[in-house]
Amino acid sequence: MSYRAHNFSAGPAALPLNVLEEAKAELTNFQETGMSIMEMSHRSKDYEQVQQDATENMAQLLDFDLKEYSVLWMGGGARTQFALVPMNLLDGDSFAEYIDTGAWSSYAIKEAKKVGDTRVAYSSEDAGHNHVPQNDTFKSDANAKYLHYTSNNTIFGTQFQDIPESNSTLICDMSSDILSRPMNVSKFGVIYAGAQKNMGPAGVTMVIIRKDLLECSSENLPEVMNYAKVSAKGSMLNTPPVFPIYMVGLVAKHLLKLGGLEVMEKTNQRKAAHLYTLFADSNGFYKGHARHDSRSNMNVTFRLPSENLEKQFIAEAAKAQLLGLKGHRSVGGLRASIYNAVPEESVNALVEFMLNFQKNNG
Ligand SMILES: Cc1ncc(COP(=O)(O)O)c(C=O)c1O
Repeated sequence: MSYRAHNFSAGPAALPLNVLEEAKAELTNFQETGMSIMEMSHRSKDYEQVQQDATENMAQLLDFDLKEYSVLWMGGGARTQFALVPMNLLDGDSFAEYIDTGAWSSYAIKEAKKVGDTRVAYSSEDAGHNHVPQNDTFKSDANAKYLHYTSNNTIFGTQFQDIPESNSTLICDMSSDILSRPMNVSKFGVIYAGAQKNMGPAGVTMVIIRKDLLECSSENLPEVMNYAKVSAKGSMLNTPPVFPIYMVGLVAKHLLKLGGLEVMEKTNQRKAAHLYTLFADSNGFYKGHARHDSRSNMNVTFRLPSENLEKQFIAEAAKAQLLGLKGHRSVGGLRASIYNAVPEESVNALVEFMLNFQKNNG
């Protein structure tokens, strides 16, 4: 087998090795068609089957009914959805509510404000975005068109443990923890997620939308931005990102084979607990950023006693093939992203490295 680093990148991120191998094996000759999936018409039967399988496998993994929800495969990344959600759902008479738990939700708020009346139901900004709200610390307005939140805050390393209580339609940016645990999709109006953390390569965003909400999209919207039009055309209004969708389909199939999202959740909890326990036992050498009740199982953010030590940590870790551990440029510090495809052996290797690093520098 070829060399593989321990990849803790926040996204694009590690993909399951056997999925990469499968894609490699059929890269130049997809299922005896004599061409790669990237080279054939998106209208061909072969490609249509690929996209349909990806959609159906997603519905099976996340346990929702394709009669009630439409799955859209769109370009433009999750950030495009920051604009498309309010463009499709808000009108002149309605307002939206947002939970602000860090950079990505703040960007979503900024975009929504350009579209319509946007209110912040809760913000963790004063606390340095070190937590997500518990249900008794905010109240959503039943008159709002929707309540939007970010389930996992990739940059600050916080995560909602439960779905927040909402009195209006719930919308979630699930970019950095989708498929990491079972999710009760029936609680949501819209879920969207960029692929490049837990689902596949960058280039496609999955939007799961409750079908009645498709009626909200105005005829005045440009067609490629109109959820109803994209849905009516089976995400083929324009050429879909065929290769990323194919890869997402392979990842979904792989997760089903592993036993589905209950299995992923247990593995993810075990991986994260390994690191959080290390922090707790380090006498303050490793300080987690997130409040205990809000700690993420996907992005573990932490600090060392000084910035110099953090630089040294990153350099020495890289020599041990432990890569992608630098915190986001906006907050500094360190971050281990331990998405679904990061193997437990990589987390074990990181923990061992961290124990040694403390021994030598603590
Ligand atoms: C939670 C979350 N939302 C949105 C984004 C932006 O995604 P994209 O780059 O696909 O627009 C990211 C990227 O890291 C993210 O982590």
